[in-house]
Amino acid sequence: MNTEKLIITDMGSDTPRCVSQKSLLCLGIESSCDETSAAIVDDNKNILAHIIYSQIPEHQQYGGVVPELAARAHILAIDEVIKQTLERAGKTIKDIDVVAATAGPGLIGGVLVGWMAATGIANATNKPLVAVNHLEGHALVPRLKATSASDSAMNIDVKFPYLLMLASGGHCQILLVRGVGKYELIGQTLDDSAGEAFDKIAKMLGLGYPGGPVVDKRAKQGNSKRFRFPRPLCDKPGCDFSFSGIKTAARMLLDKTPESNIDEEFINDFCASFQAAVVDCITNRLHNAISDERVKSAKPKTLVVAGGVAKNSAIRNAMEKLATDFNMQFAAPPMNLCTDNGAMIAWAGIENYKVGNTVSKPVAPRPRWPLTEL
Ligand code: KG4
Ligand code: ZN
Repeated sequence: MNTEKLIITDMGSDTPRCVSQKSLLCLGIESSCDETSAAIVDDNKNILAHIIYSQIPEHQQYGGVVPELAARAHILAIDEVIKQTLERAGKTIKDIDVVAATAGPGLIGGVLVGWMAATGIANATNKPLVAVNHLEGHALVPRLKATSASDSAMNIDVKFPYLLMLASGGHCQILLVRGVGKYELIGQTLDDSAGEAFDKIAKMLGLGYPGGPVVDKRAKQGNSKRFRFPRPLCDKPGCDFSFSGIKTAARMLLDKTPESNIDEEFINDFCASFQAAVVDCITNRLHNAISDERVKSAKPKTLVVAGGVAKNSAIRNAMEKLATDFNMQFAAPPMNLCTDNGAMIAWAGIENYKVGNTVSKPVAPRPRWPLTEL
């Protein structure tokens, strides 16, 4: 493993808005996939420091994340990431009030690395420890920071309950978020996640990994009406998703297209047409979710998107329009808090600490851990 291949990003920090009173500081650690990240966040919603070591170049040659390589890279990076985060915040471990880390779901080798680091720090310093569900990190981060799709400078205060589209590389779910630890599953994918669909389409087209960002970029330059991909389940009631049919249709179209016809324009149009199908599926399913009795009786005021796929501007725009149609507010995390990051884990640490959700006995990390089992 060559650590030189890791891309180190200092995600920056906020100028604290509230300095007069002592705020609660949480060190959050994320290591469930291909990013080793740590952040220090306070309960006034300031990010004091945020560092991400991305392993993407390490996995790119294999077209996806290789769990063993990821686990080793996390081991090599974790101490440095935590050290740099503390330095960047101008803090020592003594200044930290709560330690939080992802305890699942995710690639277990990686999860173990971050969780053991957090457990070691918390035990050695006698600080409270929070076992964060990675999906809850995505689900709650819009309460740390959120903007609208049309105005990224707008600061939106996301209050419970809210209706959440959680779309990442591993998950695709519509959830009614009633509070910290209180999630009601309204719909979910029956096969691939939305992120997986983007990644598979990119792989088919030889566009590399991860697929979402590059398909999104190509789609912006393409004609979304050139190809008609299916919209699975959209003619059916309910809020579940299915993306594998879109993927199969894409594969078949590619197989019957002579190689000489696959030029830049074809690829852009292909990406735009695929993305349009995903956007339609998400809009259709959310439309049903908003009309679902459980959702209607909870009266959520905000429609929220989170997870890596929330970076997609076509999805953000379509969801904002849907929210407006239903007299709801729309909110999305800023771009750098959509994909996996330590700040979302630190924030989920603060939210859980405040409701008394700390670890009182040893916790075994979980590769699978549905939000409905919190
Ligand atoms: O949340 P995340 O960082 O990791 C998981 O928890 O799975 O999400 C990663 C996923 C990948 O599948 C990636 O292709 C997708 O998010 N993604 C996007 C975009 N940026 C990242 N999908 C669509 N459009 C994007 N701009
Ligand atoms: Zn994630």
